[in-house]
Amino acid sequence: MSKKFYIETLGCAMNVRDSEHMIAELTQKEGYEPTENLEEADLILINTCSVREKPVHKLFSEIGLFNKRKKEGAKIGVCGCTASHLGEEIIKRAPFVDFVLGARNVSKITKVLHTPKAVEVDIDYDESQYAFGEFRSSPFKAYVNISIGCDKQCTFCIVPHTRGEEVSIPADLIIQEARKAAQSGAKEIFLLGQNVNNYGRRFGSDHPKINFTELLRRVSEIEEVERIRFTSPHPLHMDDEFLEEFARNPKICKSMHMPLQSGSSRILKAMKRGYTKEWFLDRALKLREMIPDVSISTDIIVAFPGESDEDFEDTMDVIEKVRFEQIFSFKYSPRPLTPAKDYENQVPDAIASERLTRLQARHNEMLDEMKAERQGKIYQVYFEELRPGGMVAGRTDNNWLVQVKGSEELLGRTLDVKITEAGRLYGYGEVIA
Ligand code: 5AD
Ligand code: SF4
Repeated sequence: MSKKFYIETLGCAMNVRDSEHMIAELTQKEGYEPTENLEEADLILINTCSVREKPVHKLFSEIGLFNKRKKEGAKIGVCGCTASHLGEEIIKRAPFVDFVLGARNVSKITKVLHTPKAVEVDIDYDESQYAFGEFRSSPFKAYVNISIGCDKQCTFCIVPHTRGEEVSIPADLIIQEARKAAQSGAKEIFLLGQNVNNYGRRFGSDHPKINFTELLRRVSEIEEVERIRFTSPHPLHMDDEFLEEFARNPKICKSMHMPLQSGSSRILKAMKRGYTKEWFLDRALKLREMIPDVSISTDIIVAFPGESDEDFEDTMDVIEKVRFEQIFSFKYSPRPLTPAKDYENQVPDAIASERLTRLQARHNEMLDEMKAERQGKIYQVYFEELRPGGMVAGRTDNNWLVQVKGSEELLGRTLDVKITEAGRLYGYGEVIA
């Protein structure tokens, strides 16, 4: 009987892809099979996120529970960003953990598996050219990494300490991977990096000059690729050339993630984001002007140290002006190894909660208005997933989630759908062609 592994993935799309890479290594090189049942697993993996404090706290209670429920002799491995930043402390606090594998050391999964109490968390390790085995959780959409690590030094962010310096993956490898995925049915290619539009600034070895805009062009030249998405771009690097390619290239999906973080230029400076409120507004409104149907999503942190009422009003002002289709909003969370945790004027939690509530309430009002505009409209939907109750889900070009009644035969197809019931973040509809 083959050995089984159970894997839980937290955090961002990079982590999802890292998990896919580990699954490929385990199934193809170690003879493991996946299981959804923790009790029957011989290996239990948790791929962690450390971007905010809460999930880190939860990690120890969760692995404690794994330890109680696991079958005798099963191994537990802690992987990902929290593994990078806590390293061997994890084994000190939870001695039953068998190995710790950092976010930038995914390719060493087969090694740590056979090394008792291994801790591999080197953030200088360069796996930008490692040839992982093939595994994708969806046959219709392929995540493709284009860089690892992050060179920005945002003062709130732990990621540079968990994923290390930014290194771009050679363009030919990216094209090869995208082509292979698209030819096997993944018509949507999702390019991944911490800061995708910084692509090409540094490679692990000699490489011809290329930037993100050129990479997008090259991916779009692959015949079988129908849709291209990417995350996350940085507002600072949204030059005209990039925005124009985004607008002009029909294969690039018209949904842009623009992480604002704060609308106050003063706070943006303290965050070391490298742009101002005016620059952000200029870029976002230019996008709206160039592409009437574009959807813009964002990340916002409220109550960064020193954020005054006036600073927060600047954030609210940007929200009014840009009318984001989706906002991921968070209370500032002090993180180890980051400068902002030592800043004076940390904002009391009660004020942070009040601001977050106000922001989300106002955004919900806007979403209700957008929802009304979508009712009865026709969208092209690429169907990717079966849902309970005889439903099939897909996304519009501008990333709105739509469900229709149907079955497998819709999967992998792009069809016109008329919206019959619009919600804030999803809609229901009927296929009309
Ligand atoms: N506190 C709160 N939110 C944070 N993020 C990153 N670091 C922190 C922090 N210390 C948010 C940012 C980022 C998203 C992935 O998580 O908004 O864009
Ligand atoms: Fe992803 Fe950042 Fe969380 Fe790491 S810390 S998993 S890079 S969101």
